Amino acid sequence: MIDIGARDFVLGVVGAGAMGSGIAQVALTGGLAVRLSDASEAQLEKARATLFQRLDRLAEKGEAKPDQIAAAKARLMPVAAVSELAPCAIVIEAIVENLDVKRTLFRALEEVLAEHAIIASNTSSIPIAAIAQACRHRRRVAGMHFFNPVPLMRLVEIIASTDTDPAVAAVLAELGQRMGRTPVTVKDAPGFLVNLGGRAYYQEALHLLQESVATPEDIDLVMRECCGFRMGPFELLDLTGIDVNYPVSEIVHKGYWYDPRIKTTPQHESMYLAGRYGRKTGQGFHRYDAAGKKLAPAAAPAPQGTKPARVILPAAEEGLVALAVAAGVDTQVPDDGESPILVAPWGEDCTDTAVRLGLDVRRTVAIDLSFDTSKRITLMTAPGVDPASAAAAAALLAAAGRAVTRIKDSPGFIAQRITAMIANLGAEMAQMGLASPADIDKAMQLGLNYPLGPLGFAERLGVKRCYDIMSRLFESTGSDRYRPSLWLRRRAKLGLPAATPA
Ligand code: NAI
Repeated sequence: MIDIGARDFVLGVVGAGAMGSGIAQVALTGGLAVRLSDASEAQLEKARATLFQRLDRLAEKGEAKPDQIAAAKARLMPVAAVSELAPCAIVIEAIVENLDVKRTLFRALEEVLAEHAIIASNTSSIPIAAIAQACRHRRRVAGMHFFNPVPLMRLVEIIASTDTDPAVAAVLAELGQRMGRTPVTVKDAPGFLVNLGGRAYYQEALHLLQESVATPEDIDLVMRECCGFRMGPFELLDLTGIDVNYPVSEIVHKGYWYDPRIKTTPQHESMYLAGRYGRKTGQGFHRYDAAGKKLAPAAAPAPQGTKPARVILPAAEEGLVALAVAAGVDTQVPDDGESPILVAPWGEDCTDTAVRLGLDVRRTVAIDLSFDTSKRITLMTAPGVDPASAAAAAALLAAAGRAVTRIKDSPGFIAQRITAMIANLGAEMAQMGLASPADIDKAMQLGLNYPLGPLGFAERLGVKRCYDIMSRLFESTGSDRYRPSLWLRRRAKLGLPAATPA
């Protein structure tokens, strides 16, 4: 088998665009000799120049010694013709995302490479098996899916199709490590792992917007401040670009035979059609200045209500009692017929909670106690609420030192709903055997900067509670989109951790 540590080991990279030059860079800093090729000589020269600049910057920042950088530069050989890749034991393809063009290149590579050389594609959406279909030796073809920008993104997905020799996947994982990446082995399925798993976060946010539950600004704030995401889902949509994430959504949705779990919304499509791509066009779900900086939205009006003298807590939840105490408000269980009634549902909207508990819906206010409630708290009410009760509850939260996000009625508010959807999709990925439970969490954290992986979110919510949130969402919406994964259901019923193997 291939020895990556051998003195004569050479890596080939075809395509010197954004991805290929990043892949070449981390291979060089990993101590490997690289032959970099591109159909365009001008692009190849441009890639070499920028690559050298980036390597110089590493030395300037003290991240590498000058002699190491000089040696890395000396190990790069730009080559114009595919035939010059003949000595490469492994070639990574990062050319245009087109099946026919990739197949032609793979055939040409087979003509010049040794029989046991490995050919890997960095494709983000084409099935590896479809590329391999053009090859004489399919067992040596696999995916090696890097993330953009390569030098900053640690994750690499190693994609093994049904034809890929497991030993080939193992060598590519070793190569990934040598390049300073964290490899995760994934099945050859639409969107592979991260591009499938990533749908849940922003698509559920899009569904909340579609239902007019809250604004993009509010949803982003809750996901950042309460759930610990570095970027809100709409900020992320705008940053990656709607011209990128909408087509990927379409491909993955179609790839899973239109499973409603991963469907997007009409608004996402209309933004795409209108060319409102996000940061790069100055307008997406948010607005940006010429330098790409997000423009601050108009400040939300401060809560107008007056703090109530007392609140009614039918279930006497600890978290609600603590908030009332912090606000200096009395609590009581029997209803006095006039004070606001506070409830803290899980996966249920305010309407269902009030009806189930036989409460006066006009005075009932639902508070989200999931995740971090120390800075911001979400509050929701049912249709027909008495505005004074909602305002009084908001004033109580403000007096307890919390920023308040007020939303329309929603089963699972914002945070419970989005995180349970992430967990449910992660559980489904484990059920499909897309990767091991540990690798699913690792990939989602590294590939998307999530504070927790999907199964980690199930644990954080509580596996049983996460399953209950999904079951209630499914029941109240009647939509297949919210059907709980069997993986999650079994572990919830058995009281087992979310990552328990099948
Ligand atoms: P790019 O457009 O920046 O670079 C592609 C390069 O391939 C160009 O320099 C072009 O001249 C060259 N090329 C085209 N056809 C060729 C051929 N037949 N032989 C040799 N060179 C050829 O594209 P980018 O963004 O680097 O993407 C490359 C691949 O990586 C695509 O398959 C893409 O789906 C995948 N990918 C892209 C990511 C991204 O965020 N840009 C992330 C992960 C994967």
